Amino acid sequence: MEIIRSDVAIIGAGGAGLRAAIALAETDPLLKISLISKVYPMRSHTCAAEGGAAGVIKPDDSLEHHFNDTVGGGDWLCDQDAVDYLVREAPKELLQLEHWGCPWSREPDGSVAVRPFGGMQKQRTWFAADKSGFHILHTLFQTSLKFPSIERYDEYYATDLIVDDGRCQGFTAIEMRSGQMRRFEARAVIIAGGGAGRMFPFTTNGAIKTGDGMALAYRAGVALKDMEFVQYHPTGLPNTGTLLTEACRGEGGILLNRNSRRFLQDYGMGPETPVGKPQLKTMELGPRDRVSQAFWHEQKKGNMLPTKYGDCMLLDLRHLGEKKIDERLPLVRDMSISYLGVDPVKDPVPVRPVVHYMMGGIDTDIDAATSLPGLYAAGECACVSINGANRLGSNSLTELLVFGRRAALSAIEFINSGKPSVNEVALSAQAAAAQGRIRGLFEKADGGESLAGLRREMMRTMEENAGIYREEEGLKAACAILSQLRRRYLDVGLTDRTNVYNTDLLQALELGSMLDCAEAVTVSALARTESRGAHQRLDFVERDDGKFLRHSLAYFRSHEPPRVDYRDVVITKSQPGVRDYSGDHK
Ligand code: FUM
Repeated sequence: MEIIRSDVAIIGAGGAGLRAAIALAETDPLLKISLISKVYPMRSHTCAAEGGAAGVIKPDDSLEHHFNDTVGGGDWLCDQDAVDYLVREAPKELLQLEHWGCPWSREPDGSVAVRPFGGMQKQRTWFAADKSGFHILHTLFQTSLKFPSIERYDEYYATDLIVDDGRCQGFTAIEMRSGQMRRFEARAVIIAGGGAGRMFPFTTNGAIKTGDGMALAYRAGVALKDMEFVQYHPTGLPNTGTLLTEACRGEGGILLNRNSRRFLQDYGMGPETPVGKPQLKTMELGPRDRVSQAFWHEQKKGNMLPTKYGDCMLLDLRHLGEKKIDERLPLVRDMSISYLGVDPVKDPVPVRPVVHYMMGGIDTDIDAATSLPGLYAAGECACVSINGANRLGSNSLTELLVFGRRAALSAIEFINSGKPSVNEVALSAQAAAAQGRIRGLFEKADGGESLAGLRREMMRTMEENAGIYREEEGLKAACAILSQLRRRYLDVGLTDRTNVYNTDLLQALELGSMLDCAEAVTVSALARTESRGAHQRLDFVERDDGKFLRHSLAYFRSHEPPRVDYRDVVITKSQPGVRDYSGDHK
């Protein structure tokens, strides 16, 4: 098996992976960096982010406001030292992107423009129209091209971490073009593989978001933290799940039920504010967990609009006018017309809540370090945790920049702390075992289980039992089904036995990752007998700080459901309080 040696190898070349690679190359030009991704970097899901990235820049805002919004928005499950670090580094990172060429939208006076976003008491979301992720990804990608020390391995799928002598020393990966397996040997590894929204059938997430990075770390013994917290974005297109950015509401869009009522005023996010005037923190700019939960209640009351794609609310942008919509929300207009045949300039757009983001992920500390020496993680696949029980919109682009860089600096510190000997025989043996596992998939006589069938069952199970509201009976059923699906997965056979771009193989591996992540979600959700942020239990409706002001930690077990443990949340200055989104508007 070919061995590719580097100082630091990064799995994932979206925003976090690219930011980490640039920080490594800038800090130490002598480092050899491998950047591997299962897609071309410009196809990473960061590209799909629309609304913007949060960072304090305007004189009426402050780091303290950003901190308080984030911690309260996260229902006090955020680690506050990490949030402090995020809000301090955020403006620097966003300015750095500006210097690298990111075309941030501007105010008439030429200064950087910001827009309001959900749950924030000040306007602090930097944006590039409604294609912010696209432009951030382009900026990072083109910047990465300046550094010859960054060697890219596009369309490689990482299968197993290699761990010896108590530290991570690389991984195996399949080159999709040839089907050949390679061993990447590295003194430090950074996982930046994105989220796992594809466990659910209705999601804003691209097809590539299958939790592979999370599963890699999890199977190597690192805990998945706070996996029960799955974010629903309130406004997805009802047929495709495509995101209609929160910026629609930041720019003044309103949400109406079938009776043309701005229903959020009935869910602690009122009073109703004047249409067309941007409001902060309340009504349509309430936090995502609360707004999505309001949709659920309205559905129970029969206040949603039945459509052929299911029950919907209406997102009304008409009062913004064509000029503003074309300037600030051109992609929203384009997608609404292309996918749904509705022009938001002329008609309200039907929307419904859609799985968008995993607050949970690979357990890291504030330095982006995992419990496995030499292994770091950043971006959506990681849980630092700055998002707690509910991420505020536009904090994630900022997070991937801040902690992508942080992971790089920590990895450099680690490799500079000594050069331990490497047992090539042990590493090769692990790589051979990983290769054997893949061969096993080819050798099964069509296994008897179909990939598509198992995937469908997983998705249905997640949607029915681990959605916006959960309860014991459903979660228990989901845990049982998922552990059965994990057993049945062992009998999946590949119908395509060829080597070149074997997407059947890729999908089988992705399904394995999703099943492991899905089980971590449901087992952690069952164990958390309280309601907090995005985790709402119909049978335990109150937040229980006495018992659950703690992060859940799910530990992988091959033949059993994960073991769940807990760790106290880091509280530095903000004691748990009441999340109040009423009445604060301008
Ligand atoms: O609505 C949005 O533009 C999404 C932003 C985010 O998830 O941060």
